[in-house]
Amino acid sequence: METNKNRRNFLKSAAVLGAVALSNPLEIFAGTNESAKSLAELKPVNGKYELPPLGYAYSALEPHIDAKTMEIHHTKHHQAYINKLNEALDKEVQLKNVPLDYMLRNLNSMPDTVKNVIRNHGGGHWNHTFFWSILKTGTKPSAQMSNLIQNSFGNMENFKKEFEKAGLGLFGSGWVWVVNQMGTLKIITTSNQDNTIMENAEVKAKPILGCDVWEHAYYLKYQNKRADYLAAFWNVLNWDQVEANLR
Ligand SMILES: [Fe+2]
Repeated sequence: METNKNRRNFLKSAAVLGAVALSNPLEIFAGTNESAKSLAELKPVNGKYELPPLGYAYSALEPHIDAKTMEIHHTKHHQAYINKLNEALDKEVQLKNVPLDYMLRNLNSMPDTVKNVIRNHGGGHWNHTFFWSILKTGTKPSAQMSNLIQNSFGNMENFKKEFEKAGLGLFGSGWVWVVNQMGTLKIITTSNQDNTIMENAEVKAKPILGCDVWEHAYYLKYQNKRADYLAAFWNVLNWDQVEANLR
């Protein structure tokens, strides 16, 4: 009974909002950068979500993140989120053409049969696609980015310290995000595969960067030393993309 009610509510809200969402599925990432393109493409192709290419070699982030970790993370972990999401959506065909971004932003309206799968595995797909896009060696924050960080955290050193502290303090698996709220940057942590665009997010805002602090992201190289992984993360952060994500 409840499921039918939820389904009716979802279909009603989808009918009202879906046309807008489908015509402009990822307005927050509107732009011309590659990240915007890959995230905007986060919808099924022939009814199935597909693993997006990294756009760089698994070894590109060595020695800070090793090639084996990247390969397993991408081809096994990320792929597994996609597989589970596809499996669940096979039973809810009306969702096949709804962009993932829309489903995450409207989680409460999703059918009970797939709500948790969309949250956990859809979240996993969105988060990892976003994560790959903000990794690259050799970039530096621009003057504009540095000013924003200075205004929000006092200075770069303090920002990094606060970010690493948040990542280290997160119990279990999850993510550390930086979001832009009306021109002020904030550090947010989420558990599991939650993120800051989800309907029930404590702070709902678009992320400009995020770090995966699940053990699968670092265990091969860093074992239990999450602090070392977080410290190394700055060497592979694509500041150009972070800045592009502000737009
Ligand atoms: Fe991960």
